[in-house]
Amino acid sequence: MPDSSERYGFVVVSNRLPVDRVIAEDGSASWQHSPGGLVTALEPVMQANDGAWVGWAGQPDLEFEPFVDQGISIVPVPLSAEEVQRYYEGFSNDTLWPLYHDVIAAPTYHRVWWEAYVQVNQRFADRAAEITEEGGTIWVQDYQLQLVPKMLREIRPDVTIGFFNHIPFPPLGIFSQLPWRKQILEGLLGADVIGFQRADDASNFSRAVRHLLGHATTRPYIEVPVDDESAPVSRRGKKVRRVLAKHFPISIDAASYEELAARPDIQARAREIREGLGNPKTVMLGVDRLDYTKGIRHRMKAFGELLADGRLSVEDATLVQVASPSRERVETYKLLRDEIELTVGRVNGDYATMSHTAISYHHHGYPREEMVALYLAADIMLVTALRDGMNLVAKEYVAVRRDNDGVLVLSEFAGAADELKSAMLINPHDIGGMKNTIMRAIEMPKRDRTTRMRALRRRVLDNDVAKWSASFLQALENVRPGQQITPAPATTTTTDGSPE
Ligand code: G6P
Repeated sequence: MPDSSERYGFVVVSNRLPVDRVIAEDGSASWQHSPGGLVTALEPVMQANDGAWVGWAGQPDLEFEPFVDQGISIVPVPLSAEEVQRYYEGFSNDTLWPLYHDVIAAPTYHRVWWEAYVQVNQRFADRAAEITEEGGTIWVQDYQLQLVPKMLREIRPDVTIGFFNHIPFPPLGIFSQLPWRKQILEGLLGADVIGFQRADDASNFSRAVRHLLGHATTRPYIEVPVDDESAPVSRRGKKVRRVLAKHFPISIDAASYEELAARPDIQARAREIREGLGNPKTVMLGVDRLDYTKGIRHRMKAFGELLADGRLSVEDATLVQVASPSRERVETYKLLRDEIELTVGRVNGDYATMSHTAISYHHHGYPREEMVALYLAADIMLVTALRDGMNLVAKEYVAVRRDNDGVLVLSEFAGAADELKSAMLINPHDIGGMKNTIMRAIEMPKRDRTTRMRALRRRVLDNDVAKWSASFLQALENVRPGQQITPAPATTTTTDGSPE
């Protein structure tokens, strides 16, 4: 166990730790690797840098001393049950999440939730400030912690601060709804580098800063006025600190997915899955957290209509839908689950036969090995998000298809669509268009499938998560020279394969 006065040169701060405290039904507790693309993305960088990770263990009212897990120092931050409800379920996931995803669901604004958000952000900032060595680097992750950069700068002006937003940053017209919009922008501007998934997210942010705070921006920089006499002078004659706001599209550890896909036992499992489904001609797959941003209902509607129209039968095609449980105490998520399960029941009730289901629905997370087998078993991957920061599932599907086969149907509203241009891009709101695209995917000749998948694979394999973190850390180093962070080697990690 590291002693509590230990200091680290590289500290990652995120709402969730890479390990979750899990309490079993019999009351026994254990540590488990927590799901999510973020963990997969950052674990190798941490291991290469002997860094520390500050975050919440996923359960209320538990205090833990720091400990080491798989070469990473874990520094838990406790949250009370009330804070989980107000800061995590409330402000993070019932205010910011729907607001930042194009208000697909209506955001709820509560002042007590905001107060809890401020209080918890301060606790994360204090803990990170305590354990970071003089002149070190702190990398803050995601929308749950947008106030942390400014709070850190106030306590530790010596450290270099990065922030990465894993979800979309909304257009000004939507962001302006937020009663605490200025505080959020100022919080983020405490960072030296603010990373986004898409170029559009970075420009939405710069525009919000110009309009709501009046700061000058010269893309990709934002000029934040400061009191510091030694600061450089801007063209407007003000002392400023320059903040870089730019897109750094996140990726996956593609090589580890390829390795799993090459394993004979996993390939055998893929065949077994197809047999278990009654060997339909086409297996279609959806893999998502059960979230209203993912367009799961739209996808099921399109498939249900294709069956109703007689363009498909259950012998022709089965849809496998993995919907991993998520944020289950938030009302919108409870309603969504009911709607999806009603739809699955209806479609299966109407069209399934004794030997073939229409929708094979699974409300579980699965280990990564099983996910790879599912990807290999699927002729068509359906990513129909109404809005998504990136969507790593799309990249995982591509990475495992060493056979250059399989068709990726991808929503143009997922960040991944900016890079994966050779996918079949769809507007998930256009159900008629989605139905036609699904039929084209089913009927696509092998040669076309190969051409598209080759191009997709080149993109994903050349731009893996190690490259993502290295380019972000390089940008941090350029802003404040002298910081040396070792980029992640292209190694494999063993984490849960649940979708982000
Ligand atoms: C998204 C967010 C992550 C989050 C993950 C799982 O990918 O960007 O910050 O950790 O969803 O959600 P949860 O609420 O379970 O942490």
